[in-house]
Amino acid sequence: MGQALPPPGEALTRLTEQLGDPLTASLLSDRRGSRAWKVRGSRGVVALKANNSDEATARDKATEMAQEDEHILRLTTAGALRPDYRIDAGLWDGGRWLAVRWVDGVPLWRALALARGPEGDRPSVRPWLLQIARTWAEHLAGMHAAGWAHADIQPTNTLITPGGRAEVIDYALACGPDSDRPLPYRGALTHTTAPEIAAAVLATPADTHIQAQPAADVWSLGASLFWCWTGHRPVPYDDNIDRLDKLAVIAKGRTTPLTDVRPWPFPGFEATITACLAPDPTDRPTAKELIAAW
Ligand SMILES: Nc1ncnc2c1ncn2[C@@H]1O[C@H](COP(=O)(O)OP(=O)(O)O)[C@@H](O)[C@H]1O
Ligand SMILES: [Mg+2]
Repeated sequence: MGQALPPPGEALTRLTEQLGDPLTASLLSDRRGSRAWKVRGSRGVVALKANNSDEATARDKATEMAQEDEHILRLTTAGALRPDYRIDAGLWDGGRWLAVRWVDGVPLWRALALARGPEGDRPSVRPWLLQIARTWAEHLAGMHAAGWAHADIQPTNTLITPGGRAEVIDYALACGPDSDRPLPYRGALTHTTAPEIAAAVLATPADTHIQAQPAADVWSLGASLFWCWTGHRPVPYDDNIDRLDKLAVIAKGRTTPLTDVRPWPFPGFEATITACLAPDPTDRPTAKELIAAW
């Protein structure tokens, strides 16, 4: 492979059967105890994830990887994920690996770079932004109809295809109808955590599972669009304070008015993002309503 952090050999052996010889791998990310690679063969390309065996968190991350595989299988059975999303999964010497369909796209933050600046205020950008928001809501509506919440909706888990469609990845933390799971859900990325999840994290012991509801995904979707379009996170707090202190600010339910930070006016888009960020989950639109609004 000729690189410092090659993928697990056990995964490559299995993927060779499907992807064809020779395989090449490039590291996509290396964080929080797990790594991801783009693996290419003569017949195809996949995204491969594996826990990092060097880290103190290795066991939890291996369990999380097994949990993601289980979620993907169940979401596929429920019709909320394309049957070709899951490629393969297995064990390796240091834990677990999981391979999924390669999504050709860039993370939301990068995709919205033009829209974030004053030069984004042009007729072609408006329908393009709305299509991203609508296709994103379509993914969520499918999961929600099957009784699931994604529970980790945030800019890096949303890839924007060259055609301007949102694709959702990373099902490790999803919350399904059967809440029997190895790892309790305790919120995901702080900046996109809905106020009711923040409040539940603060009010319960660390080993208590919090069942994320669809309305929490809707808040996270609004927060991600707010953040990547304006360059500002929706809840203002000092970056240096602890996670729990940030969650305490989020739990109050107040967000920065979008009109204070938007790069240019886009009234319909702004109104729907603001509706997603309603503090009371019952006041937010559903994903299905978002599809109609966008
Ligand atoms: N199916 C995929 N297609 C393209 N890139 C992917 C895919 N899955 C993951 N990635 C890339 O790898 C990164 C890490 O994957 P992710 O599933 O989000 O794991 P984690 O957040 O647990 O590290 C993503 O942010 C993305 O850049
Ligand atoms: Mg992720």
